[in-house]
Amino acid sequence: MSYMEDDFFNNVIDLYRKNEWKNILNLNEKSNIQKATRILWVWPSEEDIRFIENIIVGNGLRGIISIGCGSGLLEWILQQSTELEIIGVEVNEEWWQSKYSCPTFIKLTFPTFPLDAEVLNPEYALLFCYFNDGSAFQEYVRNYKGSTVIIIGPSYGKGRHTDPQPFEAKFPTSDWEVRSFKEVKNTGDFIVYYTKLTTAYIEPPIVPLV
Ligand SMILES: C[S@@+](CC[C@H](N)C(=O)[O-])C[C@H]1O[C@@H](n2cnc3c(N)ncnc32)[C@H](O)[C@@H]1O
Repeated sequence: MSYMEDDFFNNVIDLYRKNEWKNILNLNEKSNIQKATRILWVWPSEEDIRFIENIIVGNGLRGIISIGCGSGLLEWILQQSTELEIIGVEVNEEWWQSKYSCPTFIKLTFPTFPLDAEVLNPEYALLFCYFNDGSAFQEYVRNYKGSTVIIIGPSYGKGRHTDPQPFEAKFPTSDWEVRSFKEVKNTGDFIVYYTKLTTAYIEPPIVPLV
């Protein structure tokens, strides 16, 4: 069945045209419809959206660069529901312009490799939602000079695999740590916020005993 013949997908498109992002979230609020993952792997609640927004605003950042954004539906919802600037990055431009690909909700950016560090503006957080290439993840983070990374993906036991895994992400350096996290509704998917430690640990001076 093509996207255009699918009622669920047509409902999404209809609400997208009417700018009704909340109603798009409501379409899959309780049911976890399997085919919904064809256009977005994780269907957040508004609370989840606010959790992401607070991370960005709390760090004084301009927005989010979403790597491997796919259809860009989550990114469009973030754009509509917040004041954040959202950039969606994908690979394989030819595929995304073909008639076989899933329709897209935002303009996609296709970087060239090796990566130009300009693509990864440090005033934005990097987001990886259900990303599936651990070595590309490392390359993106290595070229990113900012300090906020958000990973969305399944926790253990959900029977799905992503790379990076939200709680077991293999960063290129050891100075990244989990700052906070939130489960997406009761789905077993998690939003995990990592931050880069910027201040080096300095040994306290030894105070001589008198
Ligand atoms: C499982 S899909 C997730 C799509 C979307 N984030 C979502 O949650 O619905 C992973 C996406 O990552 C993209 N991807 C894979 N390697 C990539 C790379 N090196 N740079 C950018 N995107 C990449 C794929 O094309 C695919 O669209």
